[in-house]
Amino acid sequence: MSEYYVCHSCGTKYEITENVWKCKCGGMLDLLKQKVTLDPSKLSERPPTMWRYVDTMAFENDSTIWRKVTMGEGYTPLIVLDETKPNTLVKVDYMMPTLSFKDRGAAVLIAKAKELGVTRVIADSSGNAGTAIAAYAKRAGIACDIFLREGTSPKKIAQVKAHGANVRTVNGTREDVAAAAQKAINEEKHFYASHVYNPFFYEGTKTYAYEIWEQMKSEPDTLIIPVGNGTLLLGAYYGFKELLENGLIKKVPKIVAIQAENCAPLAKAFVNNEIEAEEIKGKETLAEGIAIAAPARSVQILEAVRTTNGEILTVNEEEILQARAALAGKGFYVEITTAANYAGYLKYNHSLSEKIIIPLCGAGIKSN
Ligand SMILES: Cc1ncc(COP(=O)(O)O)c(C=O)c1O
Ligand SMILES: [Zn+2]
Repeated sequence: MSEYYVCHSCGTKYEITENVWKCKCGGMLDLLKQKVTLDPSKLSERPPTMWRYVDTMAFENDSTIWRKVTMGEGYTPLIVLDETKPNTLVKVDYMMPTLSFKDRGAAVLIAKAKELGVTRVIADSSGNAGTAIAAYAKRAGIACDIFLREGTSPKKIAQVKAHGANVRTVNGTREDVAAAAQKAINEEKHFYASHVYNPFFYEGTKTYAYEIWEQMKSEPDTLIIPVGNGTLLLGAYYGFKELLENGLIKKVPKIVAIQAENCAPLAKAFVNNEIEAEEIKGKETLAEGIAIAAPARSVQILEAVRTTNGEILTVNEEEILQARAALAGKGFYVEITTAANYAGYLKYNHSLSEKIIIPLCGAGIKSN
């Protein structure tokens, strides 16, 4: 295979094997791969799922392993939210098998795990990524342990359990949950199906960009993106970068990232011109999906936002709840984390002609 993992900090290369998940220096691993080429004329023959872009993903040549894993995820609707604002579109990414955008990353990551011959995975999550990993692992015949906070939405815990995963709850912060999972990885030597650490997750979330490009027949001006660990943000960024490298778009859209005011390490680092976010002592937020006090890929996230001349906005709890009601008033019942993203859009200063995409990342019935 001509792909490698490469450390974002020191540039060390690693073979892609079951047990590698971070660099010896502690740095985060990216994928080093040959230039992606996409032949748009082939797309009309492809299925209406995110796998229409499989040629751009780092699988073995002619790999069809994904067919054993897919549940038809992706190619979600892109529609005008309100006809008085024709240039603001929502991408209904909760229309996924497990009801959140995390299926994009989980489907690819589990297909990769299957290709590597993995038989058991461990992951930690604020809820939705764990749900998605559990579902796809089950489908692929891979055993699965998911680490979650004790206070995770009961509906998400039930969803994970329903897929037969072994739920290991941790009494502590989201960072404590990640630390417990990593300790288990080191002791039990299983594959770390982490949406944060494993770059194959981003090979999946990047299809968000490909779909928008194909559905719009061009690129938007601006992406509003909720950010905790940055799996959608980085996936979207990488996807649009690949489209640019293929000469299919003229620019990577501006990324406007949204954090909850109660837990906003990236917003703080952005304002202070820091290249890396420091861990903060966050307060609780209803937006559990973005309650990440120490995002491991903060360097890459800040780079992506700055490179696109973007910005990071914060929203408070009241604004989040109002935004949830406002979206429901337009027909979309979303989970609270997704409402935070819409609240950010409502605060974002823009002109009527700016083409903006808002992802509706998680379904309303997932949270209280
Ligand atoms: C519904 C929803 N939106 C957004 C996010 C944020 O994604 P990330 O932490 O990868 O930035 C999550 C993460 O769990 C989520 O569940
Ligand atoms: Zn390194």
